[in-house]
Amino acid sequence: MNETFDVKLSEKHYLPDPRFRETAWTPDYTAAYQAFLADPEAFWDEIARELVWFEPWDRVREWNAPYARWFVNARLNITYNCLDRHVTSERRDKPALIWRGDGGEERTLTYQELFEDVSRFARGLVSLGIGKGDRVCIYMPLVPEQIIAMLACARIGAVHSVVFGGFGAGALRTRLNDASVKAVITADVGYRRGKTIPLKEIADEALADAPSVEVVIVLNRSGSAAKPGGDREVDFADLMERSAPDCPAASMDAEDPLFILYTSGSTGTPKGIVHTCGGYMVGTYYTTRHVFDVKDDDILWCTADPGWITGHSYVVYGPLAAGVTVAITEGTPDYPDPGAFWKMIQDLKVTIFYTAPTAIRMFMKHGEAWPEKYDLTSLRILGSVGEPLNPEAFEWYYQVIGKSRCPIVDTWWQTETGMHMITTMIGEPMLPGFAGKPIPGVVADVVDREGRPVPPGTGGFLVIKEPWPSMMRTVHGNDERYCTYWNTIPGYYTAGDLAVKDENGYIMVLGRADDLIVVAGHNIGTAEVESALVSHDAVAEAAVIGKPDPLKGNAIKAFVTLRTGYTASDDLTAALLKHVRDQLGPVAVPSELEYADRLPKTRSGKIMRRVLKAKELGIDPGDISTLEE
Ligand code: WTA
Repeated sequence: MNETFDVKLSEKHYLPDPRFRETAWTPDYTAAYQAFLADPEAFWDEIARELVWFEPWDRVREWNAPYARWFVNARLNITYNCLDRHVTSERRDKPALIWRGDGGEERTLTYQELFEDVSRFARGLVSLGIGKGDRVCIYMPLVPEQIIAMLACARIGAVHSVVFGGFGAGALRTRLNDASVKAVITADVGYRRGKTIPLKEIADEALADAPSVEVVIVLNRSGSAAKPGGDREVDFADLMERSAPDCPAASMDAEDPLFILYTSGSTGTPKGIVHTCGGYMVGTYYTTRHVFDVKDDDILWCTADPGWITGHSYVVYGPLAAGVTVAITEGTPDYPDPGAFWKMIQDLKVTIFYTAPTAIRMFMKHGEAWPEKYDLTSLRILGSVGEPLNPEAFEWYYQVIGKSRCPIVDTWWQTETGMHMITTMIGEPMLPGFAGKPIPGVVADVVDREGRPVPPGTGGFLVIKEPWPSMMRTVHGNDERYCTYWNTIPGYYTAGDLAVKDENGYIMVLGRADDLIVVAGHNIGTAEVESALVSHDAVAEAAVIGKPDPLKGNAIKAFVTLRTGYTASDDLTAALLKHVRDQLGPVAVPSELEYADRLPKTRSGKIMRRVLKAKELGIDPGDISTLEE
């Protein structure tokens, strides 16, 4: 791979209404960033003091590269901050969770109710012999009990490992065994798009070969008369009923593990990313408040399942630590129709909406008529995460959903970082296509292989130069893999993403470093070509891969899905190719273009180019356990 490559930058930008800046928790990004740089430890110290600790820290940070300890020797419990802290205040009767099921049913839990349920379930776990340090796998549909289970583990110091309810038996088994899980919490069934998913059956298949598991707690979601059968099985509701709603929050060391969450590497087995109690709490609390700029009357809807890091940080821990109302749904964006999400925003008066580019592009495909049927005036702030938000999707999101009134925070971060790292803070000018700048508290840059910063307009590797509180501490059972993040470009944390900066330090994330194609000696980012294709009116989504080519080394092949109202034809193909040529130049023009009804994606919505490529080349796609059905 060449060291660096050039990227064409546009300078179009939007300025938010000045009132956003006036009322923001971070009213002046530049000043806040300078204050952080002047004294990073004082910066984090001040934020941490807004939360409740059982014992204070001796030092804010200890950095012994690549190992960090934060809030050294402090003691806390994250659930004390998410629950106890609020139930002793006027937030007690405020809704903590508003949940909508796949069939439209609704449940609201106030902070007091959530506190009681979590306490009961925590007590129940203790009665089953589960305690500090034990690993507990949560394999559930998106119901309030999923969140109750997570918080109950955290309350007693058990380490949860949430596995998204859409994963199959093989993926679940790998995760159960890798973490030597002692207990599994699941449900008999889940519902998705009106269909029943036999979760317990799938879990049983995985459990047949998971010798460490001693207890299985089963939520009766379907309301069936059947009771759990096997010796080691316990009914969720029975356990709740026989447990008192009081369970003191265990005193945890700031560096004790809080959870393990698996993320799929581009190769090999999934990595169990380990996060700890203190730093993760501070990082998610801070970013929820300052990046989403949450106020006490906000209703935050992050559409991710708690089974992903986005759900851990911005459905569960960050928002609850900040004491806001969280909206959640088991429903999908286009069921029963493509207005489902807009209806939810209207009904619940959602003020902060956080979703993924893949969902936004799907909404674009269905057209503006759907959102226009609903009242979206409650919206204040929009967010995006998971993939580059290409300029066309930004414009659509900004204009059609936000009515040119709502700032968009395009947040770049990872399972490994635990919290938002790069975005455009509320009140700052927004550049479509650019996530933005490192937030106060984070030092990020775009560098070459030796770690030298690259000039504006030149692509390179996205790195983080200083430790941050919510950074991963290790990869469970494989510390060597952890070290790889810090020694690929020595001294820096390498994110594995390619990026480019403009003259003002705004960062555009181009995609994973492994998504780079070298065509006739030129480095072409898949995201760039995809973005060019999607900027054509006819295209809903695009995926681009490299194919070995005797002449050019690699040739580009594009897969395209069309927006409603367009049909595939040779003329359209010619028009699309010309469009890419006009936008990016001849080297980036695909030599093949294929129309598809849909693209292979991970369950979290990332396009799996690897699967397209394997199919194209007739080779084994490798681990596809994360592929959507
Ligand atoms: C990608 C999700 C561009 C990136 C929180 C990263 C993004 C990977 C953005 C982590 C964004 C996430 N713009 N790319 N705003 N946010 N990514 O672990 O490639 O599921 O490395 O965490 O998603 O994915 P993960």
